[in-house]
Amino acid sequence: MDIEYRDEPPSPEDFARLFESTGWNADYGLTADELAAALAASSFAVSASAGGRTVGCGRVVSDGVLHALIVDVIVDPAFQRHGIGRALMRRLVAECRGRGIRDVQLFCATGKRGFYERLGFVARAEESPGMELRR
Ligand SMILES: CC(C)(COP(=O)(O)OP(=O)(O)OC[C@H]1O[C@@H](n2cnc3c(N)ncnc32)[C@H](O)[C@@H]1OP(=O)(O)O)[C@@H](O)C(=O)NCCC(=O)NCCS
Repeated sequence: MDIEYRDEPPSPEDFARLFESTGWNADYGLTADELAAALAASSFAVSASAGGRTVGCGRVVSDGVLHALIVDVIVDPAFQRHGIGRALMRRLVAECRGRGIRDVQLFCATGKRGFYERLGFVARAEESPGMELRR
């Protein structure tokens, strides 16, 4: 499969399409404008395309020094399991490392633990878990 990778965000329209493909927006209920604003506020982002169609993306929100949070790593369902997610992740991690950011973190969606463990990520210890406020 001939995939082109870019260290650039997807267009807002492509990001919205990929985001909707995950089903996450059933819960968030974000408008196209809100999704575009979130994308624009990313510290950096990457994308993948096949035959001119954007088929994957990922982005980072970061303070540029201490913390980087990898979010919205998404591959079009029709293109999953071809190594695209891994390639996008490697680009995001390389950019974080290149900028010297100390902590690179993410929240793992249900069922995706093996994907991230293959990339070297480890779950935090039980006594120091990631936490969140439920909406
Ligand atoms: C998670 C996601 C990005 C993976 O992308 P992908 O392109 O299908 O993954 P890859 O083909 O690059 O997989 C890389 C490796 O991880 C493995 N892998 C992929 N998805 C996996 C999963 N859900 N569980 C365990 N392993 C997985 C692959 O088998 C491959 O293993 P290998 O190195 O032994 O061959 C994709 O499934 C997706 O977009 N899902 C919906 C959105 C989502 O949940 N994103 C993550 C948010 S935390």
